[in-house]
Amino acid sequence: MARSVLVVGGAGYIGSHAVKALRTRGDDVVVYDDLSAGHRSAARFATALVEGNIHDLARLRNAMRQYDVDVVMHFAAWASVGESVRDPIGYYRNNVTGSLTVLEAMAGERVPFFVFSSTAAVFGNPVTTPITEDHPKAPINPYGETKLAVERALPHYEKAYEIRSSVLRYFNAAGADPDGDLGEDHAPELHLIPRAIDAAAGRSTFQIFGDDYPTPDGTCLRDYIHVTDLGDAHLLALDALRGGADSSHYNLGNGRPTSVREVVDTIERVVGKPVPAAIAPRREGDPAVLFASSDRIKSELGWRPRFEDVDTIVSTAWRWREAHPSGYGDGARG
Ligand code: UFG
Repeated sequence: MARSVLVVGGAGYIGSHAVKALRTRGDDVVVYDDLSAGHRSAARFATALVEGNIHDLARLRNAMRQYDVDVVMHFAAWASVGESVRDPIGYYRNNVTGSLTVLEAMAGERVPFFVFSSTAAVFGNPVTTPITEDHPKAPINPYGETKLAVERALPHYEKAYEIRSSVLRYFNAAGADPDGDLGEDHAPELHLIPRAIDAAAGRSTFQIFGDDYPTPDGTCLRDYIHVTDLGDAHLLALDALRGGADSSHYNLGNGRPTSVREVVDTIERVVGKPVPAAIAPRREGDPAVLFASSDRIKSELGWRPRFEDVDTIVSTAWRWREAHPSGYGDGARG
């Protein structure tokens, strides 16, 4: 009988999209989430939902045992760069201690495979672009440090406890489920696309953080990747681990540097309304340019993005936001 995938943080933005993809192809999926940030209705595609937090070793172990889990996908983390600078205690507790508790539960239950959500923030300011997996790791904020700390623990956990892992380093996750079932709902919302969409819809103000960067139009360049394409990458990583592949690291982006202004222009076109944008000072911790080489996951796992142009990414985000102006409407932090 097929074993189950435990998706820790599966009620959150990226996790919920991965859960839907897993269920769509017929995997058994158990979401483990304390719903402090995740949304109950975002987890509705799962086979089961266990409400629990990542510091609860006994509950994690019970869930792994009860559902005969062989793979853990771990999405539960705090993920705002600016916030991590103000609250390193919270970031280290959630992202490092919490992740190590998940791994401890896996070691105790002999769960063999781990798919870990990491980030472009492990690289810091790029010294070469596009950023490949072997680019030096030099985080410039606590968020990136916490993710790198877990990455660095993994070889030791593999040696001692035989947990094989796939580390997926996301660049800028964006967009929403193309069927309109799931979307992005953080409180407060800090990400560019949802913020600018809300400004176009007249629901909030919007600022561009810096127009004096050494880039063609002076605004930061980023690599936006559709959340459904990220979900697909998780399925491929899982299949590779189950199929006997070695532990690995993969960067996930589209390799297309896109400026903040280009994103704003796209939103104006898609929404059909202007985005009132004030120019504000640079935001602390923002590198000027970040974009990925995803050649490794393409060649090793056959990953192919399906929604790579920014128009499509913005259109799916707008479609969900238009239908859900208050997000999931449950007040969770997202
Ligand atoms: N931006 C604005 N105005 C806003 C929000 C964002 O101008 O209201 C700009 C930012 O300054 C940045 C770009 O839009 O240049 C994208 O910002 P986001 O906040 O959407 O995303 P980040 O690039 O800051 O964050 C992403 C991931 C993090 C990762 C980080 C690495 O979400 O997980 O890249 O730098 F850590």
